[in-house]
Amino acid sequence: MMELSEKEQKIFDGETNEAARQSMEILVALGKIYGAKRMIPIASAQISGVSYKTIGDAGLDYLKDLVKKGAKVAVPAFLNPAGMDIAQWKDMGIPEEFAKKQKEILIAYQAMGIMRTCTCTPYFVGQRPKQGEHIAWAESSAVSFANSILGARTNREGGPSALAAAICGITPEYGLHLDENRIADIVVEIQCRLETNADFGALGYAVGKLVKRKIPAFTGIKSAGEPFLKVLGASMAATGSVPLYYIKGITPEWKVDDDAEKIIFSQKQLDDTKNELDSKAKPDLVTIGCPHCSIDEIREVAELVKKKKPTCAFWVCTARKIKENAEQLGYSKIIENAGGIVVADTCMVVCPLEEMGMEVTGTNSGKAAKYLPNLCRQKVAFGDLKDILYR
Ligand code: F3S
Repeated sequence: MMELSEKEQKIFDGETNEAARQSMEILVALGKIYGAKRMIPIASAQISGVSYKTIGDAGLDYLKDLVKKGAKVAVPAFLNPAGMDIAQWKDMGIPEEFAKKQKEILIAYQAMGIMRTCTCTPYFVGQRPKQGEHIAWAESSAVSFANSILGARTNREGGPSALAAAICGITPEYGLHLDENRIADIVVEIQCRLETNADFGALGYAVGKLVKRKIPAFTGIKSAGEPFLKVLGASMAATGSVPLYYIKGITPEWKVDDDAEKIIFSQKQLDDTKNELDSKAKPDLVTIGCPHCSIDEIREVAELVKKKKPTCAFWVCTARKIKENAEQLGYSKIIENAGGIVVADTCMVVCPLEEMGMEVTGTNSGKAAKYLPNLCRQKVAFGDLKDILYR
């Protein structure tokens, strides 16, 4: 049985408001399923289920109902990408009716006190939990980054459980909140060259499929900046539900089971994965920024397209704050002059690409390559930027 504090019991008994009671009920039910003994306070919550494309009318009604019942968040809480750029949705070709519903979703979240960050990389816009801090984040790539690269502690929450945690300011203590569940059970020795986002994306795609739900620990990766690490984690989370990984000498933690299985990942495996993901078709649109770009990544794109104009339209997806920064630094202008657009608040997977006349989408992300065919009915052109932008 879970032990609730006096304050938690009062919320559970409905003494605060109906939204908080309902949320506590979700958290207690989760705690019971996973054998948690108690609740723990969280420092922040990241909420998924923001795009109208993914939650539809049922999700919108659920949110409106929670607002009516008095829902307010108790800790800093912020949103995953929505289905469109809130300011430039017309330029993106988003249908009018979709935009109307999307705005209603954002209004509901805002009424609960949730920040409209609309990004899967909150850690690039000031939301960086400290090592050891407990949080309740929902976006799988952000969960991987927070656990692995920042050393924070979060399970892979669903939209409703992250929202419930935000409203109550607590989460049941189980899974990755506990030391004993943060031990790698498979060591992956890297024997291939990793030089681009596409390399890390393909590596994550393949390793996620190989390890499934295990926690991998990599050896043989000499250096990797945050953009590469976010792509690696996002891809493993997409193909294998991997919420945490270690890299020797890079991640703040390195905890490996003495009896961990050992596998080798070769150059041939990397090349085969890149080939498998690429339809070889010429893209209608290239989408960069899965997960959302940092300002350094946008600078790199601007430098590339300034030298030579791409042969197709392209989007650079990022958080609104970073987009504003890119505008001030002149990168957005360069990208626009080259036929691109810096898109904020959304991404290629959660916006209605399939309703916008696109058939082939280019990406250098393993996660986007996994989801574009099923969620957006797209053929994928996968490769390094120099390849897909000039195909
Ligand atoms: Fe982010 Fe969308 Fe990729 S939410 S991780 S850019 S699929």
